Amino acid sequence: MSERDDTEKEEKPNEETPNISSEQEEVEDCDMEKIRKYLAQKLRLLDSSDCDEQSHQKVLRELSVDGIVNYIKENENCKIITMAGAGISTSAGIPDFRSPSSGLYHNLAKYNLPHPQAIFELDYFMENPEPFFMLAKELLPEGFKPTPSHYFIRLLWRKGLLLRHYTQNIDTLERMAGLPPDILVEAHGTFHTGRCLKCRAPYTLPWMKEKIIEGVIPKCEECNEGVVKPDVVLFGEMLPERFHYLTDRDFAQADLLIIMGSSLVVQPFASLVDRVRPNCPRLLINKEKVGMQDRLSRFLGLRQGLIFDTRSSHGGRDVAWLGDCDTGCQLLADKLGWGDELKDLVKKEHERLDAENTKKN
Ligand code: OAD
Repeated sequence: MSERDDTEKEEKPNEETPNISSEQEEVEDCDMEKIRKYLAQKLRLLDSSDCDEQSHQKVLRELSVDGIVNYIKENENCKIITMAGAGISTSAGIPDFRSPSSGLYHNLAKYNLPHPQAIFELDYFMENPEPFFMLAKELLPEGFKPTPSHYFIRLLWRKGLLLRHYTQNIDTLERMAGLPPDILVEAHGTFHTGRCLKCRAPYTLPWMKEKIIEGVIPKCEECNEGVVKPDVVLFGEMLPERFHYLTDRDFAQADLLIIMGSSLVVQPFASLVDRVRPNCPRLLINKEKVGMQDRLSRFLGLRQGLIFDTRSSHGGRDVAWLGDCDTGCQLLADKLGWGDELKDLVKKEHERLDAENTKKN
């Protein structure tokens, strides 16, 4: 696994036209731009930000982690939104979904599912909740500790820089790391609470945990009929109201977006990256590049997806740091002058959680 600021790599010439001179290239670019604009206008696809002066301004002095760090230092009241996926929890021992071989979707053979994602589909759950609860037993937030990435997010909050943390994770590690509920949006719900699917009676995590650990499907004690489902959002269910309400408010005012440990393939979460203003820098900390603008959007000049391209006519605002999330977060903290504070926080909090666990057992 390489750990590097990978933005420079993108500077290589277009591989499809390796031999043409730069003059010729400019003419072609210009023609292409005209065609693009013409088509986009005709199809009414032109993004208003295309004409927006703001989007052409250079917002980062350099397209690198250092550029992001300087930007934060220079913007005293920088409003940061963090977006996270399963990659921030893998170092806690919780597998992600799509990583080859270690990802959950590659290890579900024993559940005999029609397809891997069925385990998180509402229709399948209604028919056969057993596989979900068997998996829940393995994944229950039991003994797992938040990772340095979680504590880095807490540090952003402590410094007054975190506007909101949006997570797809259902492992409750953000709560455990001490992020207050009002700063947190659990887009795909949480194991923290549950509900009877028939009479909607609410249940707590400890109650559900007891049943799940016993290997029993939790049944409602109020109506004695319904299955109690943890409040995780399954495919086919609506995202929480809070998600829609806050995304409308938050993204338009963010000064910086940090995306960590997600493949950015599940909607609508993935397209949140497009909801920030056109001049808002976006930093991806991940093992691989994800969420990039596709060729059609690029051709039509649509503001969709991340653009790790230093040749961008829009000045460039997206940075990819490729490697392990915890290492990336520690690097950012070091460069911001909070390195020791982050290490201390992780150490103290892990000691506290270990002591609590020892007391419990
Ligand atoms: P994925 O498994 O799809 O993606 C995890 C991403 O994190 C991948 O790009 C990995 O390469 C990267 N990654 C893993 N470990 C890392 C580490 N230590 N450091 C840096 N990067 C790392 O997980 P999500 O994007 O969270 O939905 O998946 C989104 C949704 O798909 C989940 O919320 C879940 C699933 O179906 C529901 O359960 C509704």
